[in-house]
Amino acid sequence: MLVQIPNLLSATEVAQCRDALAKADWVDGKVTAGEQSAETKRNLQIAENSPVARSLGDLILSKLGRNALFTSASLAMRVFPPLFNRYESGMDFGTHIDNAIRFVTGANPPIRVRTDMSATLFLTDPADYDGGEIVVLDTFGEHRVKLAAGDMILYSATSRHHVTPVTRGSRWSSFFWVQSMVRDEAARTMLFDLDTAIQGLRKQVGDTTEVVNLTGLYHNLLRRWAES
Ligand code: NI
Repeated sequence: MLVQIPNLLSATEVAQCRDALAKADWVDGKVTAGEQSAETKRNLQIAENSPVARSLGDLILSKLGRNALFTSASLAMRVFPPLFNRYESGMDFGTHIDNAIRFVTGANPPIRVRTDMSATLFLTDPADYDGGEIVVLDTFGEHRVKLAAGDMILYSATSRHHVTPVTRGSRWSSFFWVQSMVRDEAARTMLFDLDTAIQGLRKQVGDTTEVVNLTGLYHNLLRRWAES
């Protein structure tokens, strides 16, 4: 699954994030990489438990909680506290797969997140940089993604992916992972497709008996498949 979520942040919120990030301390992105991906990762990041990352992360989490498309596509149980990175000219991230399990830094007792889905929230206008596309490889081939500032891509963390070299300007983004209530990707995708179809149908015909029955079917499948 690969879903684009437009306008997660407004232009004002993007500017707010960028102002705070511009004043923050940046460190080598290898700090959160697994052993294999550290070899190919060339970017900068805000330290995981820095106050800036936590405060902007909370803003993003609150926006996610109110976003119907994110809710439907992810069926999120846990969201890893958002991280922030930056690729300057010449930086890139080679093909890798994200670690399956991540621990939230500083959490006591420990909080473990199974990374079912990966997310990248773009914080730079695409006109301000060249390159810096995220390329996701799945069973249907290669998907190249570069979105407007404030837009987000949500994709299966089981896919291999890379970020192409930035050749002009600087690309800023937030990235994080989601543990879904529905672990099985095929089941999660079917629920998303069913929900999308029901929402479309409701707009066309209203809450007819059939639409209510389909909604019941959706919830009964979710009840069957969801972990809690
Ligand atoms: Ni990755």
